[in-house]
Amino acid sequence: MESISFLGFLSLLLTLTSFSSRAEARAFFVFGDSLVDNGNNDYLATTARADSYPYGIDSPTHRATGRFSNGLNIPDIISEQMGAETTLPYLSPQLTGERLLVGANFASAGIGILNDTGVQFLYIIRMYQQLLYFQQYQQRLSALVGADQAKQIVNDALVLITVGGNDFVNNYYLVPFSARSRQFALPDYVVYVVSEYRKLLMRIYELGARRVLVTGTGPLGCVPAELAMRSRNGECSEELQRATNLFNPQVAQLLNQLNREIGSDVFVFGNAFDMHMDFVSNPGAYGFVTSKIACCGQGPYNGIGLCTPASNLCPNRDIYAFWDPFHPSERANRIIVQTIMTGSTKYINPMNLSTLLAVDSRT
Ligand SMILES: *[C@@H]1O[C@H](CO)[C@@H](O)[C@H](O)[C@H]1NC(C)=O
Ligand SMILES: *[C@@H]1O[C@H](CO)[C@@H](O)[C@H](O)[C@H]1NC(C)=O
Repeated sequence: MESISFLGFLSLLLTLTSFSSRAEARAFFVFGDSLVDNGNNDYLATTARADSYPYGIDSPTHRATGRFSNGLNIPDIISEQMGAETTLPYLSPQLTGERLLVGANFASAGIGILNDTGVQFLYIIRMYQQLLYFQQYQQRLSALVGADQAKQIVNDALVLITVGGNDFVNNYYLVPFSARSRQFALPDYVVYVVSEYRKLLMRIYELGARRVLVTGTGPLGCVPAELAMRSRNGECSEELQRATNLFNPQVAQLLNQLNREIGSDVFVFGNAFDMHMDFVSNPGAYGFVTSKIACCGQGPYNGIGLCTPASNLCPNRDIYAFWDPFHPSERANRIIVQTIMTGSTKYINPMNLSTLLAVDSRT
């Protein structure tokens, strides 16, 4: 009898330690577009892929990983800061067993809040589909750890969602006289997009997310692609800056509203515009030689077309704010995540991520 109770005690101990080690590595779920896609599109029939040289040139393998970066992207660096493994793309065949506990990345380059954003990329994982996959993930997690534990893991997780930029650059402003721009004046379009965003965010909440970092869009008018297409003297495109300046404050307001309705700080707004604008308007202060010219690309500002093996490529990626015509370099991503971690409420509201992680570890 004594040996049985000793075994019982031992198994209790083991259960407790396995729970506590799981609690340390908080799960992380990522939704959105190419700024946070870490390889899902490599599994899909789409042109929106970062699957060849020189993408990933500064990654440990120096090979393309599906990330739209020379190395790491924002979710990777957030995982690093949380002391967690990098999440796998949801479509990766390696995402099985214990790896499910780390979380998953559902993001897909080219998508927007609206279903008709990014239609030119054919097969991409639109937001509603990312949420269906999140449901499917939870069923798979339940099969692994049981329904109660699965629910707990999702409730305790950190969620990142980065979407919206494509609803402007790959929809409203994709071509002159686009269908959406004929249907809506810009201010009305923004109101519509934000009303659709509300539905997606409420759905993420219903699916169990309780800590959701929502980044607005960066300065869309200042990326090398837009400078190449719309700028005469290197000044940011006014139209796209106007779109960003309408969209971001409405997203911030929406998150406040949702938090009030829910009665808790579920949604945290990351002001990607201000986070970028600091180094876009004063690149030298951040160790960049330029924030206008992409490291990889061609044409004015290296902003025309895609980054391919035939493109111009800068020798030192760390001194470029933009890696390709649309996406920040790994070093710029590190500056952004540093602000997410420790920035003031001007950048991240109602609290920064280091405060959030500390608060949650106490409860
Ligand atoms: C997007 O498509 C899905 C599936 O067809 C649909 O359920 C959803 O309502 C659509 N969303 C919008 C904003 O049209
Ligand atoms: C952000 O995080 C730092 C800790 O790194 C903290 O000292 C600071 O008070 C926080 N700022 C705000 C505005 O919450």
